[in-house]
Amino acid sequence: QVAAASGHTVVLVDQSDEILKKSTKGIEESLKRVTKKKFADKPEAGAEFIEKTLKNITTSTDAVAVVHSTDLVIEAIVENQDVKNDLFKRLDKFAPEHTIFTSNTSSLQITQLANSTTRQDRFGGLHFFNPVPMMKLVEVIKTPMTSQKTYESLMDFSRAVGKSPVSCKDTPGFIVNRLLVPYMMEAVRLFERGDASKEDIDVAMKLGAGYPMGPFELLDYVGLDTSKYIIDGWHAQEPNNPLFAPSPLLNKLVEEKKLGKKTGEGFYKY
Ligand code: 3HC
Repeated sequence: QVAAASGHTVVLVDQSDEILKKSTKGIEESLKRVTKKKFADKPEAGAEFIEKTLKNITTSTDAVAVVHSTDLVIEAIVENQDVKNDLFKRLDKFAPEHTIFTSNTSSLQITQLANSTTRQDRFGGLHFFNPVPMMKLVEVIKTPMTSQKTYESLMDFSRAVGKSPVSCKDTPGFIVNRLLVPYMMEAVRLFERGDASKEDIDVAMKLGAGYPMGPFELLDYVGLDTSKYIIDGWHAQEPNNPLFAPSPLLNKLVEEKKLGKKTGEGFYKY
């Protein structure tokens, strides 16, 4: 959405036409929200902006078939190393020489993903934040193999889609998640111990620390499955780090398919 809105030609790829239809509808709804503010007193210009943006997006269920005409790949599939490696390996065979590959992974090592391809110098991390149209940050991750040219292209692309890029080494969670995820897990542990209710913890962090959402609202917003993938991955890497300890409550909710806002229930009901 943000790439298309800033004039880039985008091919949105997903597993089925049904998902793509839902995604396109989501983009349309989000564009309406953005436009309402941006073109508050010019509804016609707003409608034109939406139309122009949507025209920049086509969809496909076949990544391999469309990658030959792609300058930049932004992968944002399931947080699973093997599945991602498999996708990158396939795309690497069919993508043009100059094409840069990136991952929007929240927790996996970019270096390991890059190693599934033959273009380690044209591979980096491009990590966006929910909700992407509103959050101004992008983390640009340079591995020891990422070339300076690739890094600069990713910084330029981030600015071209209207974001403020920061850079971080290829370390677990980069900057934001390395601080945010342990904080959210600490909130869950506080609640699990019965020290405070989740409602009070949320109110406390909003009114006492000025956060726009409390940790439980944010967990539901990000998705409990995504949060669990992140913490489980880090726990496997550093089993003795108490900040990365799994939470029985989070595991139970994920097992019950209560994944947050997207499924209608997580810590809260929607
Ligand atoms: N698309 C377009 N616009 C959106 C939107 C979307 N998906 N979601 C919200 N907005 C707009 C609304 O339209 C509204 O615009 P307005 O000011 O013109 O009315 C504006 O954002 C504010 O929205 P609301 O009034 O509905 O609610 P809030 O004031 O609470 O703002 C929020 C919503 C921007 C999501 C704010 O609560 C927030 O900043 N929350 C924290 C988000 C956060 O921490 N994100 C990072 C998550 S971690 C992550 O993503 C990393 C990953 O790897 C896990």
